Formats: sequence, C-alpha cells, structure tokens
Amino acid sequence: MKLVCVNDKAAKILTIRAAEIEDAAGIANAHAKTWRANYAGIIPHAYLSRITAQNWAISWTRMLERTDNDLIVLVSENDGGEIVGFVSGGPVRSVIPGHEADISSLYILSGFQQSGHCRRLFMTASNRLAKRGHESLAVWVLKENAVTGFYKHLGGTLVSSRTIHYAGTDLDEVAYGWAGIPPSC
Ligand SMILES: CC(C)(COP(=O)(O)OP(=O)(O)OC[C@H]1O[C@@H](n2cnc3c(N)ncnc32)[C@H](O)[C@@H]1OP(=O)(O)O)[C@@H](O)C(=O)NCCC(=O)NCCS
Repeated sequence: MKLVCVNDKAAKILTIRAAEIEDAAGIANAHAKTWRANYAGIIPHAYLSRITAQNWAISWTRMLERTDNDLIVLVSENDGGEIVGFVSGGPVRSVIPGHEADISSLYILSGFQQSGHCRRLFMTASNRLAKRGHESLAVWVLKENAVTGFYKHLGGTLVSSRTIHYAGTDLDEVAYGWAGIPPSC
C-alpha cells in the first residue's frame, strides 16, 4: 500500500511505501546523512566521519533480507525516486514494562523536515504495528537530541532512561512511550 503526501516545504510529492531489498542503498544514504547532520557534537566526530552509506547499505540489505522477524521498514520517496526518509519498528528490543513495540529509527533529510512528513511517517508505522497486534509503543532517543521535543509533541511520555556505551563513549538515552498506539492524525 502506498500513501502519497504533498510536502509543502519542499514543494514535492512524497510517497510512503514498504521498503524493498533494492532500497538498502537509498536508506543507507539518508541514514548516513542524517546521522552526520544531527549527531555532530553528541556522537564523537571520529566515529561519525567513518560512517559511509556504502557500509550501512550492507547492514540494511541484511536487515531487509530477513524473513524471520516482524520488523517493518517504510520509506519516503520523492517524485524523482530518491529516498528522503525512512522509519523502522517492530517488537520492543529492550524491555520497557508496558510497551510492546518500538520505533527503532525515524529519519528524514533536512530539506524535507518541518513539513509534517515525519509525523505522517511515524503515524503510518504506528498503525502498521497496531495491525500486527501491538497495543503500545516506545522509542529510544539520545537525551541530548532535540528530537525529544518531537516525540513529546506527539504525546509520548518519558518512560525510561539508560546509558549506553557506543562509538567509544557513554551516551545517555531516554525512552518516550505511548500506552496505546497513537491514533491516526
Ligand atoms: C526530529 C524529526 C524526526 C522531526 O521531523 P520534522 O519533519 O521536522 O517533523 P514534522 O514536520 O512532521 O513535525 C510534526 C510536529 O512536531 C513538531 N516538532 C518537530 N520537531 C520538534 C521538536 N524538535 N520539538 C518540538 N516539536 C517538534 C512540529 O512543530 C510539528 O508540530 P505541528 O504538527 O503541531 O505543527 C526530524 O527533524 C529528523 O529526522 N531529525 C533527525 C533525525 C533524528 O534525530 N531522529 C531521531 C532518531 S529516533
């Protein structure tokens, strides 16, 4: 199923659809670009500078080839066929009492932000998780990331926190949760 939306800011039509294995390179490109743009000053520069879309395409290909899990991956594609954003989610990976599913990634290239499209991506993914029987949702984010405001704005409440060792440093993370899958909007 495809969802066609107009991105007012970029004056582009964006289509939300399920990812296919052939999308791995496009997802990895958007993933690497958004990480470098958004995590500078949070994740060590030495780590960010080594990220390449080519390396991440290998991991995304493996992930999209898996048939043994109920991960969902949706992409946002512009009318030129470029992947400008994506979202993934599935059964919660790290136990948060009362939360069954999580959104593991949600990224959109900077030129397409602030136009309501991330909300649409989040809602479409949430609805698909609900259709798979999940009743509640959580998302882990880096505490220093401004994205925490986005999840609060969408009705998420702070439900957990932790410190992870990643990229050679300790990073504080917080989880926002929804006791019920957020209704479509
Ligand atoms: C954070 C991000 C997902 C938000 O995307 P976006 O396209 O700007 O969000 P939208 O335009 O869909 O915003 C939807 C609503 O959330 C609000 N919002 C967006 N970002 C916000 C923030 N940081 N703080 C508070 N509210 C925010 C918008 O104002 C909008 O409100 P409205 O509908 O009431 O007018 C996007 O900027 C992004 O990809 N960031 C980098 C990647 C990242 O950090 N991902 C998180 C990993 S889990």
